[in-house]
Amino acid sequence: MPKPQYHVFLCSQGRPPGHPRGSCQERGCGDVIDEFMFQLQQRNCYDKIAITHTGCIGPCGYGPNVLVYPEGIFYGGVTKEDVNAIFDEHLLGGTPVERLKVPADVWG
Ligand code: FES
Repeated sequence: MPKPQYHVFLCSQGRPPGHPRGSCQERGCGDVIDEFMFQLQQRNCYDKIAITHTGCIGPCGYGPNVLVYPEGIFYGGVTKEDVNAIFDEHLLGGTPVERLKVPADVWG
């Protein structure tokens, strides 16, 4: 198995209706996950990019959230339409997508 250049964590956490934290599932992460998997297949870059569905990764209020390593770049409010830019600019182009980053203090 080749070591991937990037590892992308896609939050797929759900919570009961009315929960105070909400969830990425409630905010539409299902479409984002489907688009990531579709594009990974279309671009056939399994050797460079690993994608993992995960539970809550922290800043639920910004969801749907996507976390990319090795840099630890947090993208928030990601839509299906944004996935193309994440692949083109960041995962294959090497430059994170500034407009999709959550505020830097989520790590604070
Ligand atoms: S539910 Fe997705 S980050 Fe918390």
